Amino acid sequence: MKNFITTQAWSRSELQDILDFASELKTNPFQPLLQNKSVAMLFFNPSLRTKTSFEVGISELSGTAVILQPGKDAWPIEFKENIVMDGQSEEHVKEVAQVLSSYCDCIAIRAFPQFKNWSEDRTDHVINSFAKYSSVPVVNMETIEHPCQELAHILTLQEHYGDLQGKDYLLTWTYHPKPLNTAVANSSLLIASKFGMNVKLLCPSEDYLLDERYMNAASKNCLKEDTSFSVTHDIEAAYTGADIVYAKSWGSLVHYGNLDAELDSRSGFKHFIVDEKKMSLTNNAVFSHCLPLRRNIKATDGVMDSDYCLAVKEAANRKHTQKSMLTKIL
Ligand code: CP
Repeated sequence: MKNFITTQAWSRSELQDILDFASELKTNPFQPLLQNKSVAMLFFNPSLRTKTSFEVGISELSGTAVILQPGKDAWPIEFKENIVMDGQSEEHVKEVAQVLSSYCDCIAIRAFPQFKNWSEDRTDHVINSFAKYSSVPVVNMETIEHPCQELAHILTLQEHYGDLQGKDYLLTWTYHPKPLNTAVANSSLLIASKFGMNVKLLCPSEDYLLDERYMNAASKNCLKEDTSFSVTHDIEAAYTGADIVYAKSWGSLVHYGNLDAELDSRSGFKHFIVDEKKMSLTNNAVFSHCLPLRRNIKATDGVMDSDYCLAVKEAANRKHTQKSMLTKIL
């Protein structure tokens, strides 16, 4: 049994197999590969793309998707061990995971961090608790990583460029009025480094560096691929010569749980917006973003409406890559 919680647990060639089969599914989308299979999808947070692409994709493969929102249309769940459950939660993940395992062939989880204490949130305890007590594969639909987005991102880049080995990949922080999850940024470092690109992280200051787990993993992946991993706070140097620009906003881990300090910190960094002037410094780069995206805050209309913007193609590839991944693990 293999979970899909982090791409770090998968080799580059295993991931490439998923991508190759996703391309086949793109040309032949309706196949009964998940007939008599069901997937429980638990959403602790909102979603447009993930929910729709999984539900439609599973249906296209003749499977059944069950969508649950704990605390809304399903009972609130407790995750702490050995606790007297006299709060809001009505049942424990131990029972939830076992019961869903008895009905379904896979449990997929979206559980964002709580934005209070990073040392707790970095344990990713919600999905790891499901993985501990489930007897069926567990899939990450975004927690502190977003591996499904990674698959779609790489497929989209491969469709544009073919081989990605040695390409110059820029992950840039962008402004957003509130601190967001680091998951897509963490994932961007993991997958770009795994697929042999020279990876550059651009962020406003050291306060916006990502967790050392992901920085170290990127360095290690790059070492293995004989490529480079670097960090810069210099916008012009970062964009110059890039082949790929991937943008994401995230909250500072230094100010984690302290909203006032975070808002003070980021207010001076609105100029990190992705615009045509910055893109003109690149090597004719493509631009992408996981979406949702606030126009003219994270990227200008000119960038979003350009031929080089792959964000919608990447979102569309979520469905094909997830279908392929589910077929592999089930
Ligand atoms: N990119 C992404 O996961 O989109 P949703 O939050 O809409 O699912």
